[in-house]
Amino acid sequence: MSEILGPDQAEGLRKMMGNLPQSNTRIIAITSGKGGVGKSSFALNLGICLANMKESPKKVVVFDADLGLANIHVLLGAIPKNNLYHVMKGQKKMSEIIYKTDFGVDFIGGASGFTQLANIKEEEKQNLIDAMQEISYADYIIIDTSAGISSNVISFVTAAQETIVVTTPEPTAITDAYGIIKAVLTESDNVNIKLVLNRVRNAAEASKVSKRIIEICAQFLNIKIENLGFIYDDPIVAEAVRKQTPFVQMYPASNVALCVNHIARRIMNMEIPSQEGGWQKFMGLFLKK
Ligand SMILES: Nc1ncnc2c1ncn2[C@@H]1O[C@H](COP(=O)(O)OP(=O)(O)O)[C@@H](O)[C@H]1O
Ligand SMILES: [Mg+2]
Repeated sequence: MSEILGPDQAEGLRKMMGNLPQSNTRIIAITSGKGGVGKSSFALNLGICLANMKESPKKVVVFDADLGLANIHVLLGAIPKNNLYHVMKGQKKMSEIIYKTDFGVDFIGGASGFTQLANIKEEEKQNLIDAMQEISYADYIIIDTSAGISSNVISFVTAAQETIVVTTPEPTAITDAYGIIKAVLTESDNVNIKLVLNRVRNAAEASKVSKRIIEICAQFLNIKIENLGFIYDDPIVAEAVRKQTPFVQMYPASNVALCVNHIARRIMNMEIPSQEGGWQKFMGLFLKK
């Protein structure tokens, strides 16, 4: 916490947190260096897999924080009228903006107005903090960020407990993935970064590329990145986007659906990194920044 907040702010946050119920919500930010690598598709389908896990279904909220071009709603075929911006302005309650999808996950839309988050008024901050209590029911909050090294992306990533960097095997995507990891590390050394290789031709390619990224990060950034798995390049992903139905729903037995399920299972079985505060702490860190 001290890496991000000054002592006064940290004290303020602790007081604020003291009044909030603790939650065990796991907050996972999904990011990438380069755009168009499949973050949003992955975020949504991962959320659906976690929500529908046979032995232990989870309560999952997917939050679209791609503030420029909020686009998960397109993948869902639904355009929520209200989003977190309206909650911040006090015009809506959180319960009024949460969209219950047909796929077992709840969805919160982002908005371009939200980019001014850094300059929000005290009252607006309080509106958001109050609203957060309403989603402490979630086991997982999956945050789909935009690509690249904007301050918003870095704020989300450093405030989340876990970050999944998505890349494809393309050389430019790999260098940009390295770039975002490096940028995040200059802001905070207390981050937990995992890697997903998307659009691979085969398992051998995935293993070769992820090994290389993990080695370079270990050598030059002195950080241990965990390999979460890969997703095949498959035209059914684009088809699902066109039909506005998530692919794990449309083709549950497909290779890509099995890949995402496998990743979801790995995440579930992993030890949970430092667990105090959950969503409230996340928003506290994010807003105080
Ligand atoms: N595994 C995949 N196989 C084939 N196409 C994919 C795959 N993942 C993503 N895509 C394509 O890439 C496009 C961009 O994906 P999207 O999730 O919107 O990326 P991002 O959120 O990173 O910008 C999708 O519309 C889809 O057509
Ligand atoms: Mg996206």
